[in-house]
Amino acid sequence: MEEQQNRRTIRSFVKRGGRLTPSQQKALDDLWPEYGIEYSPDILQLDAVFNTSAPLVLEIGYGNGETLVQQAAENPNKNFIGIEVHEPGVGHCLLRARETGVENLRLVVHDAIEVLSDQIPLDSLARVNLYFPDPWPKARHHKRRIVQHDFLRLIADRLSDSGTLHIATDWANYAEHIDEVLAQSDRFEITERREHDGDQALDRPRTKFERRGLKKGHRIWDWCCTKALE
Ligand SMILES: C[S@@+](CC[C@H](N)C(=O)[O-])C[C@H]1O[C@@H](n2cnc3c(N)ncnc32)[C@H](O)[C@@H]1O
Repeated sequence: MEEQQNRRTIRSFVKRGGRLTPSQQKALDDLWPEYGIEYSPDILQLDAVFNTSAPLVLEIGYGNGETLVQQAAENPNKNFIGIEVHEPGVGHCLLRARETGVENLRLVVHDAIEVLSDQIPLDSLARVNLYFPDPWPKARHHKRRIVQHDFLRLIADRLSDSGTLHIATDWANYAEHIDEVLAQSDRFEITERREHDGDQALDRPRTKFERRGLKKGHRIWDWCCTKALE
């Protein structure tokens, strides 16, 4: 019930401005039928979505998609779903996907909380990546941070038994918050935690927002968590 109310009132994003470039718009028009999954309140039939059955990796808030496409290209034996609400980022990601020729990638344009709740089957994910989520630095906005107890429960229920959750941030105060929420969670165990200067990313490529943070002199925090067995 609490989760339902939060879903309606507090979101982890505001739609950023920024127009689609003509090539991004064309990518959305031309490539969406190939890569897009429409949001719907019904559970996805994953067998019908991908050409082959393979471990499924989900990335939440992939931004411009460079990192997501790179991971899909480097792991042809896995399937990838990316969720993002920022349309210019989706257009950019589609252009990269076409350039790279990846066939193991699908995209959803919708609030990831609702996609997870409504469309992603229980026990279906091998891995969830959350790289540099919006930090919401002002105290009055902390409730918008996507890493919360309900979020961890939502992810844990959709991960398979050996599934992993990977998080990275460049905001010290968000890192403290993530540490606290993870420490209180009985659904995840931290397998590895790193604090570094961008040189020890934990099993992931560097992202655009990470580069921005590093330019500002921020440190980087990475977590890999395994779903706790019940
Ligand atoms: C700070 S950016 C990081 C982008 C990228 N991961 C990177 O590291 O470069 C966070 C992204 O998450 C997206 N986002 C935030 N909340 C979301 C949600 N509930 N569903 C889908 N996307 C979301 C935003 O639109 C934004 O593009």
